Amino acid sequence: NKYFLNKFRFGYVKCKDVVLPEYFTNFGDRIREMEIRADDIWVCSFPKTGTTWTQEMVWCIAHEADLKTAEEFLPQRFPFLEHSPLFDYRDLMSANPEITFPEFVLDSVGYINNYPSPRFVKSHLPFKLLPEQLQRNETNAKIVYVARNARDTCVSYFHHCRLMEGYKGGFEQFCELFLQGNVCFGPFWDHVLGYWEQRHSPNVLILTYEEMKKDLRSIIHKTADFLGKTFDDEQVAKLLDHLSFQSMKQNRAVNYEPVIEINKKYNLIEEDGSFMRCGKIGEYKEIMNPNLMDRFEEWEKENLTVRYYPATAIA
Ligand code: A3P
Repeated sequence: NKYFLNKFRFGYVKCKDVVLPEYFTNFGDRIREMEIRADDIWVCSFPKTGTTWTQEMVWCIAHEADLKTAEEFLPQRFPFLEHSPLFDYRDLMSANPEITFPEFVLDSVGYINNYPSPRFVKSHLPFKLLPEQLQRNETNAKIVYVARNARDTCVSYFHHCRLMEGYKGGFEQFCELFLQGNVCFGPFWDHVLGYWEQRHSPNVLILTYEEMKKDLRSIIHKTADFLGKTFDDEQVAKLLDHLSFQSMKQNRAVNYEPVIEINKKYNLIEEDGSFMRCGKIGEYKEIMNPNLMDRFEEWEKENLTVRYYPATAIA
C-alpha cells in the first residue's frame, strides 16, 4: 500500500490558497452549493485543535445531556464534511473486495445532504470555502469554531499524520511544512483569522482549546447559551465527567479506535498510538528546540501584525 503511505506528501492541490487533497476537486462544487438548514449546527476548526472534544460537547448540549444519544459512532451522527475528499478508499476497495465503507465515508457530502434535521456537521474547511449559504449567513445555522495555540496544534498534527495519514517524515520536517502553510487545510493563520473575522455574527461562537482545558464548566454554559439551552448543576457534572480526557479516551464512539484498527489491519499505517494522545497545553515546550521556538515566534508575529488577532487569547 505504498500509495497510501505516500499520500500525505503527494496529490495535494491549492484551492483559494488552501492546501487540500487532490480528490477534493471532485467535491468542491457540491460543497459550495450545499443547502444549509436553519437548525444546522456546524463545528469548524483547523485539524487537531480539539474538534472531536468540541463536537462531543456540542452534541451532548444540543441533546440536553442525554448521553444515550451519544453512544452512536461520532462520524455517523456528526459527519465530517470532507471525509470523502480526504480519504479516497477506491484503491483499497478494489484491492480488497471484502471491504465496504459506510456512506459517510464514501460520499460524506451526499450523506449530509440527505441527513434528517437537525444536522450536526464537522468541517476543517476555512470559512471562505464553506458552503456559500453558510458564509452568507442566509439561515439561522450556527457555527462553533475552536482554535488552539499553533505550537501544540503542530505537535498534535505531526502525531496525527504519522498515526492516521501515513506521514513518514520527522518532526522538524513537519514543522517546516506547517510554518510554510503546506499541511492539509493550511495555512494555519488564514484559517483562524478567517473565522475570527466572523466573531461578531450572532451565529458564530469562537472557543479555544485552552479555555476548555482551564474551565470546561464555563465553556459548557457559554455554548449552552449560544445553542439556547440551560442546564442544572447535576447535568453539568454529568457532562464534565463524560467530556473529560480520561473518559473520552475510553469511549470507542469518539476515540477513533475502530478507524485505527482498520488502518492497521490493511497496513495503511506503520505507527502505533492513540487519537486521544496527550491532551495537554504546552507540550511543545518539551519537544521543540530553541531554534524552532524562535521560528514559530517570528512566524506568529509576522502573521499577527498584519491582521489583528489577540494572540494572548490562545497563547
Ligand atoms: P493531542 O494530540 O495534543 O493529545 P482533533 O479532535 O481536532 O483532532 O483534536 C485532537 C486533540 O484534542 C488531541 O490532542 C486530543 O488528545 C485532544 N483531545 C480530545 N479530547 C480531549 C479532551 N476531552 N480533553 C483534552 N484534550 C482532548
